[in-house]
Amino acid sequence: MKIIAGNWKMNGSRDALVNMVRALQDIDTSNTVILCVPYTMLGVDGGNVYIGAQDASAHDKGAYTGEVSADMIADTGARYVIVGHSECRAYHNDTNDTVRQKAAAVIAAGMVPIICVGETMDEKQAGKTMEVIESGVRESVPSDPDGDVIIAYEPRWAIGAGLTPTNAEIATAHKLIADTLDSMGLSNTPILYGASVKASNAADIMSVPNVGGVLVGGASLKPDDLIPIITSIK
Ligand code: 13P
Repeated sequence: MKIIAGNWKMNGSRDALVNMVRALQDIDTSNTVILCVPYTMLGVDGGNVYIGAQDASAHDKGAYTGEVSADMIADTGARYVIVGHSECRAYHNDTNDTVRQKAAAVIAAGMVPIICVGETMDEKQAGKTMEVIESGVRESVPSDPDGDVIIAYEPRWAIGAGLTPTNAEIATAHKLIADTLDSMGLSNTPILYGASVKASNAADIMSVPNVGGVLVGGASLKPDDLIPIITSIK
């Protein structure tokens, strides 16, 4: 079972989500499809598609204006929450430490965190890709999680840029993540690839060892872009 997750970022509307869910109802796939949408769209019935959020507070409740707790997200029927996305690390100063706390809160609320790790262009050029990925996994994934987790490898320099690493680079990164998860007692954790996934490259990326699915940004917004990605992944 592969996982195809869309990340709508700050795009869309409840109507657009209803339309997308409707368009996906009759898709012939045995894979898991997840749409991670802005908080205001949570609660829309996903039918055969799972609905998820894009971030969660590390705190349970209280005086944290503007934040949304994992329990509140679970209360809408959502099943997945992205944590540690590149844009949250860049614009909200999320660190591996806060990402781990958020992931733990998501698990405690009975949902599955999609924990993102990946290197920036500066880190890549400084030869730190492997180090950033390994510490990202070790420090962002709660130890002994009391529930499932999903990892997403998102090379930060490739997001939204129309760039993708070579399959060999993806294979090396995913092998490192799989080995790191093994050493943490988390074998069989799905590892998604994300950054500039589209219909024309999805199946090829899925052929790389240790790639268990994709996390799709821009190409998850319209049925005409997303459906061919889903159907290309067997
Ligand atoms: P793009 O697919 O638009 O590159 O975005 C990737 C991403 O950030 C998914 O979380």
